Amino acid sequence: SVGNSTNIFWHECPVGKPDRQKLLQQKGCVVWITGLSGSGKSTLACSIGRELHSRGKLSYVLDGDNLRHGLNKDLGFKGEDRAENIRRVGEVAKLFADAGLICIASLISPYRKDRDACRSLLPDASFIEVFMNMPLEVCEKRDAKGLYKLAREGKIKGFTGIDDPYEPPLNCEIEIQQHHGICPAPNVMAGQVLSYLEEKGFLH
Ligand code: PPS
Repeated sequence: SVGNSTNIFWHECPVGKPDRQKLLQQKGCVVWITGLSGSGKSTLACSIGRELHSRGKLSYVLDGDNLRHGLNKDLGFKGEDRAENIRRVGEVAKLFADAGLICIASLISPYRKDRDACRSLLPDASFIEVFMNMPLEVCEKRDAKGLYKLAREGKIKGFTGIDDPYEPPLNCEIEIQQHHGICPAPNVMAGQVLSYLEEKGFLH
């Protein structure tokens, strides 16, 4: 039995991940972008997606905010809801990677244990954790959605970075940082990720 399911079996199909990867000329993987709200996760995700597309590589973006409109609309922001949110997206990302795609997941994913659980779902180094290491002050100053202001006013409770924790990765594959107080342009950040994917052989 698995979880609450009993009497279940695994059916193997004749066409497998290696066959799909050969067809697509790429290796399925998960690029997991974590960081504070307003740190630029979605912008980076879309920039990576655009660059991969222009190179003829098939990718798909799983954005936390967007998935909360559908798949995860039953979840809020308490610890256990965030954990379930990350677990579901991790499982979906695993399916996309198994399909042979470069799956780009962009979620705050504030808890280390939840991200590590997703990592453990993926085989041989195909989980690539990207940390958007932007200072809270920078994210709060941008406040594109006005949520930090509401959180400071106490109108949103449990907002990440304000009154809810963010646990930075201890050993991520890629870290995106400001240089001399300036955030790199989206295409520069995407280039950093693309170089990594290239170097590790995911793009052929
Ligand atoms: S999590 O923590 O990974 O489950 O969150 P995620 O699914 O990525 O969703 C984050 C977006 O939800 C909005 N929002 C909040 N974020 C953090 N804390 C609280 N309490 C909260 N309430 C709503 C916010 O717009 C986040 O969007 P991003 O894209 O990260 O700015």
